[in-house]
Amino acid sequence: MITVKTEEQLERMRVSGKMTGDLLKYLEKIIKPGMSTLDVDKRAYEFIKSLGAEPSFLNYAGYPASTCVSIDDTVVHGIPSDDIIIREGQIVSIDVGVYFNGYHGDAARTFMIGDVGEEKRKLVEVTERCFFNAIEHITEGTPIGDIGYYVQSYAEANGFSVVRALGGHGIGSKMHEDPFIPNFGRKGTGIRLKQGMCIAVEPMINAGVFQVEFLSDGWTVKTKDRRPSAHYENTIAITSSGVEILTL
Ligand code: MF3
Ligand code: CO
Repeated sequence: MITVKTEEQLERMRVSGKMTGDLLKYLEKIIKPGMSTLDVDKRAYEFIKSLGAEPSFLNYAGYPASTCVSIDDTVVHGIPSDDIIIREGQIVSIDVGVYFNGYHGDAARTFMIGDVGEEKRKLVEVTERCFFNAIEHITEGTPIGDIGYYVQSYAEANGFSVVRALGGHGIGSKMHEDPFIPNFGRKGTGIRLKQGMCIAVEPMINAGVFQVEFLSDGWTVKTKDRRPSAHYENTIAITSSGVEILTL
């Protein structure tokens, strides 16, 4: 079911969204080579708790952590681990969700650790621009297929490919609500966005082929060709004047 938020509900989405954005800014500051991905997760958990909020991901469908930390050829849903050490030259995507006062925020960034080289740098930048290219074209009444079209066309014009097996989603009192938001597609297709809808738009862009592989741990998603992948996500609200980004 697609939910449309009242102004009061939207105000709560703004609060959990701001917490989510602030958490990512904090993690950007503290992430360093030599840290394990579990160290990152612990810092995120403490930050969320210090706000009086709850991590949306922890125990979601049995997920064991507060963050997903996905390095290089891991597309998304990397499970934080003591054994996975962040190194110079890697791109590290951190995906977080914050639940506060009945509503979720969901957002992700891909951070470059030191000098990552030309291809990864471009991949990270293009992935972020895919998001902004799409939301620049969103207003009330925009068909959902347009989001996919503007993500995909921007990614492919830059020589990259779009992950098809996963996508964005509606968000509110539940982290995953309808509708599903593909990152590929045709303009003019799909249901139309309405004022008061909140969605997470999250391009996952691969340097090589679009195909992915789901690992046997039940979560980790890697690129099929083991080339790098980047992820960028924000929770947004559709307003009368266009779009409000809640998790910057
Ligand atoms: N941001 C991810 C998503 O939109 C988070 C899901 S990870 C999970 O699907 F562990 F919580 F499932
Ligand atoms: Co999401």
